[in-house]
Amino acid sequence: MKSRRPSGRQFVLSGCCFFFFFFFFGLLCILTSINEVLLQSLYNFGRLPFPALSANAKWSIDSHIIENSSSNDTRILLGVLTLPNKYERRQLLRLAYGTQSVAGAKIDVKFVFCNVTKDDERFTVALEIMRYDDIIILNCTESMNEGKTYTYFSSLPEMLNGSDRSDPPYHYVVKADDDTYFRFQALVDSLANLPREDLYYGFVIPCESMDPFKHYMAGMGYLVSWDIVEWVRSSDIPKQTLKGPEDKVFGQWLRDGRRGQNRYNAKWSMYNYPSAKADEKCSHELWPGTIAVHLLKTREMWIDTLSFFNVTQNLKTSKLY
Ligand SMILES: *[C@@H]1O[C@H](CO)[C@@H](O)[C@H](O)[C@H]1NC(C)=O
Ligand SMILES: *[C@@H]1O[C@H](CO)[C@@H](O)[C@H](O)[C@H]1NC(C)=O
Ligand SMILES: *[C@@H]1O[C@H](CO)[C@@H](O)[C@H](O)[C@H]1NC(C)=O
Ligand SMILES: *[C@@H]1O[C@H](CO)[C@@H](O)[C@H](O)[C@H]1NC(C)=O
Ligand SMILES: *[C@@H]1O[C@H](CO)[C@@H](O)[C@H](O)[C@H]1NC(C)=O
Ligand SMILES: *[C@@H]1O[C@H](CO)[C@@H](O)[C@H](O)[C@H]1NC(C)=O
Repeated sequence: MKSRRPSGRQFVLSGCCFFFFFFFFGLLCILTSINEVLLQSLYNFGRLPFPALSANAKWSIDSHIIENSSSNDTRILLGVLTLPNKYERRQLLRLAYGTQSVAGAKIDVKFVFCNVTKDDERFTVALEIMRYDDIIILNCTESMNEGKTYTYFSSLPEMLNGSDRSDPPYHYVVKADDDTYFRFQALVDSLANLPREDLYYGFVIPCESMDPFKHYMAGMGYLVSWDIVEWVRSSDIPKQTLKGPEDKVFGQWLRDGRRGQNRYNAKWSMYNYPSAKADEKCSHELWPGTIAVHLLKTREMWIDTLSFFNVTQNLKTSKLY
């Protein structure tokens, strides 16, 4: 008897201890999760400065690239003009861009296409939007030289217009090809001492030219400041020449409108992938100071380029592989 009673008390006591332990543990868990939800919603709130868009434009802010962004950061929209059926290229670009980190800037990568007309494409694009939220669908018809670039730039001010947006939504907007690989930190560093207004930046074409005022920027990828995006939307000059080789026509608008008075020729930090062809005058060997490489047409070229830039060097060690 004597020996059983204390053990019973001990039992109750340790039961109490267990109860309190679990109670506090549970409380802790609840507090932590509330905190997380709160943080997450604040986080999302900060990340989604733009409200819903027009019916045919799917938009939201891409979140996977920049962890440390402050309101003072340079905001860049990198729109990759591509086609709905190029799903595999988008996946490759998501990897190539999603694994880059940049200091001092926030770069949103979006894939841009016109009107999706095929049912199967509509379905996969819908899935992509649900999963990645990185697609812009413009009101245009997909075809070469029919004004997709115009629709891209001129649609942005309205698409990104909202009461709680940052002003401007982006400091710079890039139009890039889907066979171009941009290196974000190099791009951002090159912008550090350039004006945020009236800027037209890229690779001057023809290949031999080094004069950005005489010629225009190649379609591999060019960047303009936000005021030029707004000008494209509101000016009558672009509306007069909507058709034609898009990038050349873009250069003509700026010339005729006397815009882009700040020009920056990023040659030879931007160039075509090294080519064996003798007539490929726009190409250059891969080198560390690269901002963008163009004409990455095959998987081998992508792998060669990405491995040259050591993009997997920070792979974490793990017991799993
Ligand atoms: C914001 O950026 C400007 C110009 O780049 C700089 O002069 C200023 O110190 C920055 N402010 C903060 C809070 O980082
Ligand atoms: C993010 O911020 C932390 C602390 O301020 C800093 O240590 C880290 O290097 C930053 N990361 C990047 C990618 O800028
Ligand atoms: C799309 O463009 C066509 C022709 O350019 C126009 O008639 C139509 O109203 C536009 N649709 C929307 C939703 O803006
Ligand atoms: C979009 O595609 C539909 C067919 O699916 C077509 O009727 C419509 O005219 C297209 N809109 C534009 C602006 O090309
Ligand atoms: C943006 O929204 C404001 C207020 O709703 C409106 O006055 C302005 O015209 C809009 N701008 C564009 C480019 O749509
Ligand atoms: C890649 O890494 C190698 C070996 O560490 C180094 O020699 C090379 O300079 C790096 N390349 C670039 C572009 O940073």
